[in-house]
Amino acid sequence: MYQYTDFDRQLVHQRAAQYRDQLERRLDGRLLEDEFKPLRLQNGWYVQRFAPMLRVAVPYGEVSSQQLRVLARIAREFDHKEDHDTTHAVAGLAEIGTLPDRCAHFTTRQNLQFNWIPLQRSADVMDLLATVDMHGIQTSGNCIRNITSDALAGIAVDEVADPRPFAEILRQWSTLHPEFAFLPRKFKIAITGAREDRAATAWHDLGLRLLRNVDGDLGFQVRVGGGMGRTPIIGSVIREFLPWHQVLNYLEAVVRAYNRFGRRDNKYKARIKILVKAEGQAFTDQVEVEYRAIVEQDGAPHTITQAELDRVSASFVPPALNCDRKSADAKIAHILKAAAEDDLEFGRWLTQNVKPHQNPDLRAVTLSFKRLGSAPGDATADQLDRAADLAEQFSAGEARVTHEQNLLLPWVRCDQLPELWREARRLSLAKPNIGLLTDMIACPGGDFCDLANARSLPIAQALIARYQDLDELHDLGEIDLHISGCINSCGHHHSGHIGILGVDKDGQEWYQVTLGGSDGTRLSGEAVPGKVIGPSFAAAEVADVVEALLDTYRLQRTEHETFTTTLQRVGLDPFKQAANSVRVVTARTPAVV
Ligand code: HEM
Ligand code: SF4
Repeated sequence: MYQYTDFDRQLVHQRAAQYRDQLERRLDGRLLEDEFKPLRLQNGWYVQRFAPMLRVAVPYGEVSSQQLRVLARIAREFDHKEDHDTTHAVAGLAEIGTLPDRCAHFTTRQNLQFNWIPLQRSADVMDLLATVDMHGIQTSGNCIRNITSDALAGIAVDEVADPRPFAEILRQWSTLHPEFAFLPRKFKIAITGAREDRAATAWHDLGLRLLRNVDGDLGFQVRVGGGMGRTPIIGSVIREFLPWHQVLNYLEAVVRAYNRFGRRDNKYKARIKILVKAEGQAFTDQVEVEYRAIVEQDGAPHTITQAELDRVSASFVPPALNCDRKSADAKIAHILKAAAEDDLEFGRWLTQNVKPHQNPDLRAVTLSFKRLGSAPGDATADQLDRAADLAEQFSAGEARVTHEQNLLLPWVRCDQLPELWREARRLSLAKPNIGLLTDMIACPGGDFCDLANARSLPIAQALIARYQDLDELHDLGEIDLHISGCINSCGHHHSGHIGILGVDKDGQEWYQVTLGGSDGTRLSGEAVPGKVIGPSFAAAEVADVVEALLDTYRLQRTEHETFTTTLQRVGLDPFKQAANSVRVVTARTPAVV
């Protein structure tokens, strides 16, 4: 994985020292909250109703075991709910503040959040993070945010080219870029190098896809203007093929056009998606004008040379692992097959949680952080430590945060799969549910977030509890269930095959359900927002509604049809009817699940 240079390290340490000074000035009253707020935000510190929230950048999701151990220490020593007053009630959300502490939370953009660290101790946390090259720079605010990518980058069997060197070059270009520190709104970039888009690039402000043209040259397809929130929009392709060495010049042109013409008068219309939608071709033309000026007048200053790409790529050379190819192949295949036949759960784990690898001796293994009794994507301090152990023992010390809020081990030897499975199962990280219904995405919702209209986590828990039966879960097959507590869409409800959105009616928690969304990360379909299936449901109805939708799928499906293909074939109506029949039989009081 990429190693920070001395330059990067110095920058991160300087930032931590600068932040300590800013915090001290705030605590002794020399800085007012209004003055301090932009400074803390530039380092990833939000303040929520009950406690601050820290977002830590994990560039393109790669995290080392050493970093995981420091994150575990932060969760254990700093993330304490008892340091905050969680007693004051919020209208309609009597139990707000119930999000567990001593945890880190994996996010859909491959970052990590802590929810219960007192601000007074925040500088100590930044110092600790800096010891392992971590920070919160550009994880918040109206700037270019941390670049995300495919969790299988560099190892995926369907990869055209490794996106990580480009993601790293983009990280260096966008970090503290003086021209783009105060954009109209935040700006999120995702990059993939694979045929299947596992990075949800079409839902990003800017989505890059590596491909080869008819001559075999490598370049990018460029999409702009994707996003969720109140107005879900799929990004438009504004360049079908951009030679790779021009990507920074072109991005500079895109962000420049946005910086200049994006709306600053209305926060809700400030994302680039609104500009692209309003201007259409005129936006693309403007980008081309800027791009020509950068290339022809300025001399294309950001052109990436082959030497620079090689320099950065050298950090992404696969670890040297002791795989004895010749003796391994047949023997391992045999051992795995026999073990899978002996133990159904191991077989299921091999099918769902283990993915093929560019190196046939290796596999990519996902540790599941979706289980009964905890928030989707939450990792306790102990689990982070144990995940670090697993990464060291089985994956050359490297793990990756996935878009689906899990951790992936990218360098697992085939012959070590049974041992890894036993260890992961002992730690409750081997649930064979990756890609299935209970591997859901959810935001913290009303249990923590003061923007929430409703809670996400009790809904998630009710569904995880209802679908514990692995036979049933596997029979239902691949289903993306996404839950957001409000229209800001942190839980990506728009892109869920089944999406659940918390809405506020008369100060009570209600939930709107959408169907047929896609993040484009499955081979089953292009990215598309789901369609609302009718008026919202009470909290107590939601699990029954989901069950009715799934029963309808089982009733309607033909052999080998997935949930989405059945939905596409039969349309929304049978699903709508089934969901609405739940309304009639359930009491209309919006009780808690
Ligand atoms: C309680 C803490 C959080 C707060 C206050 C918060 C706030 C927000 C807000 C206000 C937006 C909308 C911004 C806009 O449209 O310009 C947003 C978007 C987003 N949030 Fe969060 N968020 C929180 C936690 C999370 C978590 C835990 C995740 C991941 C699981 C997440 C992922 C996202 C993503 C991916 C978007 C972009 C959606 C889009 O494309 O418009 N957020 N967040
Ligand atoms: S979707 Fe809404 S409730 Fe959920 S974390 Fe985002 S802002 Fe908070």
